[in-house]
This record gives sequence, C-alpha cells and structure tokens, in this order.
Amino acid sequence: MLKIAVTKGRIEKEFCTMLQKSGYDVEPIINKNRKLIIKTKDDVEFVFVKSDDIITYLNLGAVDIGIVGKDTLMEKENEQYYELADLKIGKCKFCLASNPEYRNQKFDRKQIIATKYPNMARKFFEGKKEEIDIVNLNGSIEVAPRLKMTDAIVDLVETGNTLRENGLEVIEEICDISTRLISNEQSVSSKKDEIYSFINKLKIEA
Ligand code: PRP
Repeated sequence: MLKIAVTKGRIEKEFCTMLQKSGYDVEPIINKNRKLIIKTKDDVEFVFVKSDDIITYLNLGAVDIGIVGKDTLMEKENEQYYELADLKIGKCKFCLASNPEYRNQKFDRKQIIATKYPNMARKFFEGKKEEIDIVNLNGSIEVAPRLKMTDAIVDLVETGNTLRENGLEVIEEICDISTRLISNEQSVSSKKDEIYSFINKLKIEA
C-alpha cells in the first residue's frame, strides 16, 4: 500500500480534484471531516499534514510520497528528497510586494522585509547585493507593510486578491511555484513500480 502525505488546505483541495479526474475514489477524502488519515478503495492511504512537516514524514519513512508546494521545498535547505513530478496545481508566484509608494523610496539603511520564507527573501535580495532585516511572520503578512512595520513582504501571490484588498501591489515577481510530488530513497527503491504507476495514472494538466 502507498502512503501519501498531502499538504492540508489549498493543495489538498486541488490534489483531491486531480485524484477524482484521474479515477481515484475520493469520497472518503471529501467526507473526512476532522480525520487526518484516510484509506481509500484504491489501496492508498492519505495523511493530511502541514506543508513544513511533509519532508519529516518522508525522512522518517512514515510515508512514501509527499504532495507539497515548491515554495516549501525551496525554503528548506540541505534536505534530501526525490522530486518526481510537477503536478502543475497550486500555481502561484513568489513576489516582493508593498505599498505603491515603495517604488519611489530610496533606502539608506537595510530594508525590513516581512515573510514566512526568510531564506527565499534573503536569497532574492542577495541577488541584488542587498542585505535585509527579516521579520518572521506566520500569516496575514500583508498587514506588516500596511502598518509600516516593514518596508515590504516576500510572499506567495495566487489571485492577487489579498494584496489588492489590502492596498498592496506586486513590486517584483521572483519565481513561479507549483505543487510537487516528492519521495524518499527507501520508497523509490522498494516501491518503484507502485510509485510510478500512481504518477502515471495522475491526469496532470499543463
Ligand atoms: C497565502 C499568501 C497570501 C495569499 C495569497 O496566504 O500568504 O496571503 O495566500 O493568495 P491570493 O493572491 O489568492 O490572495 P494564506 O491564504 O495561505 O493564509 P496565511 O496568510 O495565513 O498564510
């Protein structure tokens, strides 16, 4: 049996739709309520966890496959995993965003950037030969530049609604993000056929 850790939330919803289109039995997932471990008729067990924990479950051999955003993978450094497929769901962009007046600002000090992705933010500014100060926040990042607590944010933008409704705009796009299917060395060698037949059955749409 394949065990698959799925990132809870938006990725879970889009992945569930993909599974359904690919002919999998998703009824137990749709009706799971607060259950975190779901077995389906297809001999697959799904576990629903936070994005940051997917690699931990894989590394400890608790699951064979992880379904996780490229943003999470890029932020984590020195982790071992095999990225086996781009599922082309959960599409969004990493962006630098701020108040419109940011564009005309000249900084004679380090910029202060709010983010859930400190490594990504630091690397982006390193590319501009700029050091920054990071304010680590866990969500609702958009509040920080609105309250002038930080100069800008580095965050994911999907529809752009959160930025728009909070008076912010994209200053610079950093990179495209989508959901990836990853595995660990042990599962790739011991369950290779099962894993690849699962991937090949998935209807991945461009
Ligand atoms: C993410 C992200 C943005 C928002 C972007 O937050 O951090 O705030 O989605 O989506 P949009 O462009 O479609 O508006 P999420 O909703 O996951 O919640 P969070 O603020 O708690 O991280």
